Amino acid sequence: MSTIEFLDLSKQPIANNFLKSSEDFSDEYFYHLKVSYDSETHLVSIVDFVPPEMMFNESYVYHSSMSHTMRNHFKNVAKSLKEDLTPSKVLEIGSNDGVFIKHFDPKITWAVEPCGNFADLTNNMGYKTYSDFWSTELARTILDKDGKMDLIFSANCICHIQDLKDTFDAVSLLLNDDGTFVFEDPSLVSVITKNCYDQFYDEHAHIFSVIALQNLLNQSDLEIYKIEKISVHGVSNRIYAKKKCNKNLEIDASVYENVDLEKSLGLDNLETYLKFADRVYKSKEDLSNLLKSLKNDNKKIVSYGATCKSVTIFNFCEIDSTIIEYVTDTTPARQNKFLPGVHIPVISPEDGFNDSVDVAFLGAWNFSKEILEKEKDFIERGGIFITHVPNVRILR
Ligand code: TYD
Repeated sequence: MSTIEFLDLSKQPIANNFLKSSEDFSDEYFYHLKVSYDSETHLVSIVDFVPPEMMFNESYVYHSSMSHTMRNHFKNVAKSLKEDLTPSKVLEIGSNDGVFIKHFDPKITWAVEPCGNFADLTNNMGYKTYSDFWSTELARTILDKDGKMDLIFSANCICHIQDLKDTFDAVSLLLNDDGTFVFEDPSLVSVITKNCYDQFYDEHAHIFSVIALQNLLNQSDLEIYKIEKISVHGVSNRIYAKKKCNKNLEIDASVYENVDLEKSLGLDNLETYLKFADRVYKSKEDLSNLLKSLKNDNKKIVSYGATCKSVTIFNFCEIDSTIIEYVTDTTPARQNKFLPGVHIPVISPEDGFNDSVDVAFLGAWNFSKEILEKEKDFIERGGIFITHVPNVRILR
């Protein structure tokens, strides 16, 4: 057996399944979130996959356009890909609300999006959107109708797909021989070094190291030629891959540098993951103790950002509304609902982030710069932000 379980994050709900009313609590779906390491490919994955249709459907609530940071991010990446690669045919896998494709001409752009609500949205924007899961079968259909693509782009989506062999085979099938496959996903280096175990939840079937990606892409005749480190979702890697038969591009130094870094951190070694798991169990204890002691001091504690990540944390650390009164979130589709599993109410910042709050746990720690700037008044009047990244502490 080459797959070894190293971390147990307890029973968890579907992280994006925000519940409308207390009547929904009794038949909520739970699965056991355990994380494994494959000693052959070095891939880190969750053990029990949730059926994709249960996570990605017409009720999907996460809008990429909701934050200023993400809107800017996709505007900039679209601009640089257009300038550097001058693609004449572009396809995005997992186009969400069109935050990336809207920067391309609809005449040369196609999209794939299994969540029907978003597929309708981008179809209405004039972008031909296939409302389906990415697969070799779908790639064959697109190939027949629309032909090969010069640029295949995907952000925060490939790590959601359970069968990576089929995923990369499908890319290989639809990509021109001199085309480029660019994808962005959270970095395993960041998860391990910052102890942000909350990157593991049902949608994140895998968290990628470059070492693992090299092994997996290789099986589908693809290879990485450049890597950029980007500061979204904590830290992510933007991977540039090409067909192995394309000899026009040299492998950039960034690829060797990333592999060297990952080897120096031991990401190709089980021991590293076992030590990480020990740090995660300690983080749970520290967070519980800190929140309980603040609660004993009669502080009003809320959480900032109803993220999927905080669903993992609160369910794993057994933190419910007896400790965290409510969560505030700017996404209308998450407001006036209950956080999955622990059922903490979610309300808008206008309704809840006011002078009565003493302590706010940074559920959306990946936006901490944007949030700390926005909430200067809270800090100035003595409000406290808490984070667990890279260890449990009060932010000063
Ligand atoms: P994100 O961390 O991108 O997602 P995930 O759910 O994948 O872990 O989501 C950030 C959430 O935080 C999103 O629901 C919006 C919310 N948010 C706020 O409430 N206030 C803010 O100032 C920002 C930046 C985000």
